[in-house]
Amino acid sequence: MADEWIRIAAPATTSNIGAGFDIFGLALKEPFDIIEGRRIESGIVISEVSGPGSESIPTDPEQNSVSIAAAEVLRRCEAEFGIEIRIRKGIRPCSGIGSSGASAAGGAFLAHILCGEKLDPREVVLCAAHAEDVTSGGFHADNVAPCVLGGFTVIRSYEPFEVISIQPPESLGIVVAMPDVMVPTRESRAVLPKEVPIKDMVFHLGNAACMVYGMQTGDLGLIGRSVKDAVFEPARTCLVPHLKEAEAAALSHGAIASFLGGSGPCIISFYDKSSHQGETIAESIVKIYAENDMKCETWITEPGSGCRRI
Ligand code: HSE
Repeated sequence: MADEWIRIAAPATTSNIGAGFDIFGLALKEPFDIIEGRRIESGIVISEVSGPGSESIPTDPEQNSVSIAAAEVLRRCEAEFGIEIRIRKGIRPCSGIGSSGASAAGGAFLAHILCGEKLDPREVVLCAAHAEDVTSGGFHADNVAPCVLGGFTVIRSYEPFEVISIQPPESLGIVVAMPDVMVPTRESRAVLPKEVPIKDMVFHLGNAACMVYGMQTGDLGLIGRSVKDAVFEPARTCLVPHLKEAEAAALSHGAIASFLGGSGPCIISFYDKSSHQGETIAESIVKIYAENDMKCETWITEPGSGCRRI
């Protein structure tokens, strides 16, 4: 038995977004991975991995995010078939824009479709988060939730798992800048402090609450002011060369906020599409890296939908 191939687009996502460590996530329109799959008799086989950074991606189904997430969906659905998978990475690993999250969410979504869409979308998120736990050194769903559900997502609770999705404002533009340095999530989590002072917790709570209100009401000014992080980005700044100079350049060229994307090294800048050009912000960051003999790839993008069949 070998069915027809189906094809899934799994988008990049940015997480944390200032005060929402492991809680906030936002699906991006670009870039995205393409995950293809078809039903086979039994087992999970990865027959192709291509695209940027694919040489570092394991093809052993027990170590690959796509297949681990897909296997979890098959298990929950008690499926009596296997899947052959082809992975085309559009998001380089160790980028900070949810490369492993896109693989995990794409794999879970693919298996969900092949099983006849029996699961609630939030269960698909959990299957993808299981793969993140195995491959990234921590159970976090802040990339896989927006990757499956789309838009801006907030995880209210991990146990029991509850996540909400909010449609971000139309005028929110996003510049993603990826300097040519690799930051594995596992290493980026290892530098984090084990305890947080109450004053930092209070600071994060205020900013996190106002970020959600800004997303819900479309208040770009409030969103910009609420991208604040007193704990996580400061601990990780040492991992990303020229991070602070790049953020300062983006802010002086019209960005309303510029911050470390997820565990890094991507630098994310928000801007108002109705009054500013993403290209100008992107060029200002590329210039900082060029002056320091480093390459930096950019995408001018916007909030997007979650995994979808293409
Ligand atoms: N919230 C996670 C972190 C995202 O910052 O470690 C990892 O991509």
